[in-house]
Amino acid sequence: MREKFGNVVVSRWRRSGMASRTSLFCLAWLGVGTAVLVLLLTSHTQPQVRREKGRADGSSSVVEMAAPATSVVVLDRGNNTTCTVNLHGATVVSWRVNNQEQLFVSKQAIFDGKRAIRGGIPIVFPQFGPWSTGPQHGFARICRWELKKPPERLPTGDVEAMFQLLDNEFTRSMWNYPFSLTYRLILREKELHFNISVYNPGAETLSFTFLLHTYFKVPDVRRCQITGMRGCTYIDKTREGTLYQEHRDVVTINEWTDRIYQNTPLEHIITNVVSGRKMRMQKYNLVDTVVWNPWIEKAKEIPDFGEEEFPNLVCVEAGHVSSPVILPPGTVFEASQILQVM
Ligand code: BG6
Repeated sequence: MREKFGNVVVSRWRRSGMASRTSLFCLAWLGVGTAVLVLLLTSHTQPQVRREKGRADGSSSVVEMAAPATSVVVLDRGNNTTCTVNLHGATVVSWRVNNQEQLFVSKQAIFDGKRAIRGGIPIVFPQFGPWSTGPQHGFARICRWELKKPPERLPTGDVEAMFQLLDNEFTRSMWNYPFSLTYRLILREKELHFNISVYNPGAETLSFTFLLHTYFKVPDVRRCQITGMRGCTYIDKTREGTLYQEHRDVVTINEWTDRIYQNTPLEHIITNVVSGRKMRMQKYNLVDTVVWNPWIEKAKEIPDFGEEEFPNLVCVEAGHVSSPVILPPGTVFEASQILQVM
């Protein structure tokens, strides 16, 4: 891991350079094939449930039929510490540390292999927010990803897996560019590491936004504090995108909250997550942090979300969203996130 990350977000694509970047990854590759592999790549059938839910403004009613769902990959570190990734969006849908779930997934989440999974850690790419040529938050969270490298145990005892999304007819219909988006996931005793890279193999420069839409599970969002925002400017999406500056040492949530904090530090701590513990989020090359909770009224407008569920999540989302990543041909954007139960 680099010690310092500036605002430079691209580097030349060099295999050897990438491989030598961290000693951790070198150890990982040395350990390949030497230990127990835990892979559950199963066809996971959801019950056929019919859902109907009206929008708060009464404009429409959503009728959904949950279809047989998608494949999941389980990283199992032992000691009831696991991470489950649904290949639909390569969405992390569960992260259990000593059998304690750390992520929120709505009871009304729909696993139809079409829409984004409501909870866990969906990946937002190549567009954060509304999009004129495709769905809100882009296509990465609604595409089926490839399992590039099945879970493998490293010499450290940690488990890693790798996922990839390449451009295809579907992505080209919205964003007509070639790309390779990969992320390497490493499950440690109390940590979950994401190492992301976006490679531009084409002849044109890419411009995109990227975000990890992490839904943390919490007993009561009103009791959570989020550190690291003091002095940062933020775009308040609940107030027509007005720009403010944060003066508080810690951010608390007592109403509908939808803010893009800009140029945030490398670390945030969220208090009072599961079991009253703290969660540390470290991020690299993800210069912004979105804080979101729909609260009750907005929750009613979300078809795959129970209105009574809003106290049980806080989204703290590391991203590169207030300005796009500009990626010239032949270059790669790299970013990481480390979540740690303290
Ligand atoms: C957040 C956005 O990241 O995601 C919010 O800042 C948005 O504006 C929320 O409402 C949920 O988005 P979606 O598309 O998953 O309902």
